[in-house]
Amino acid sequence: DAAETLKKRPPVVCVMGHVDHGKTSLLDAIRKTSVTDREAGGITQRIGAYTVSVNDQKITFLDTPGHEAFTAMRMRGANSTDIAVLVVAADDGVMPQTVEAINHAKAAEVEIIVAVNKIDKPNANIDKVKQEMTEYGLISTDWGGTTEFVPVSAKSGEGIEDLLETIILTADILELKANPDRMARGLVLEARLDKGRGPVANVLVQKGTLHVGDFISAGASSGKVRAMVDDKGNKLKEARPSQPVEILGLSDVPNAGEVFLGHETDKEAKQYANTYLQQHKKDLIEETKAKMSLDDLY
Ligand code: GTP
Ligand code: NA
Ligand code: MG
Repeated sequence: DAAETLKKRPPVVCVMGHVDHGKTSLLDAIRKTSVTDREAGGITQRIGAYTVSVNDQKITFLDTPGHEAFTAMRMRGANSTDIAVLVVAADDGVMPQTVEAINHAKAAEVEIIVAVNKIDKPNANIDKVKQEMTEYGLISTDWGGTTEFVPVSAKSGEGIEDLLETIILTADILELKANPDRMARGLVLEARLDKGRGPVANVLVQKGTLHVGDFISAGASSGKVRAMVDDKGNKLKEARPSQPVEILGLSDVPNAGEVFLGHETDKEAKQYANTYLQQHKKDLIEETKAKMSLDDLY
């Protein structure tokens, strides 16, 4: 019975919000609170996502620049996130990109938690943010609604623990599950060509378990996982659902947002990559052209 093989998995969280409301600062502050969890000597890798532990429960944060990654992945039909943390600066309130972020999250049917940031500022007004958000159907639980508003300061660290606990509670309610005992499937978060190591892909495992030695395809590229490291720089032999890892061994650099799949054989992986290439040739040429014209511009 398929249902019996589903096991609890950590939530995947993205941080969204208006420019300068503190998305990067918040991600940094969260990362800092988990520094003590890190093994001594562990070197932090930038792999497009990181995992923190709260009371023995894990949370995966997508570290990719808010909207773009989220939108690119959604356009490819691959929903990456379970929970969106919507950052709203308490001194600024709801702004155009706040509304955009709400619309993205709602369209993707992602649970929204509002982090009211910059509460250390003298002109911070949490109630004003709550009031403005009611217009978009996000009503605070203490106002009789169902949306969690967590006051935070990415600067002082105040409220960060509360935010993490709210994420864990929300994830528990969502009952997030995946089957770890199957061929891996997930998403490419970022990828690049490394001079010495070849194509490097940062991937998020969504289902199954990815092992070193597994055959994989990602868009038009394929290969065999040669090595795997986590966000703390630890070498891994396998990665489970909701775990972000950096992998080596693909033949080419796949696009961010591409789905990756594990395969039984090298032949099957290549077939998938080839089929993808045939089906997407036109799109890939267009994308390359678009990138080239951007390069021309800047
Ligand atoms: P973009 O990526 O450019 O959209 O910005 P962002 O949302 O990532 O905001 P960022 O983290 O870069 O912060 C913008 C500015 O706000 C910086 O000068 C931060 O130092 C400041 N800032 C962020 N969080 C806080 C906070 O909690 N309190 C105060 N006082 N300043 C903050
Ligand atoms: Na900024
Ligand atoms: Mg930023």
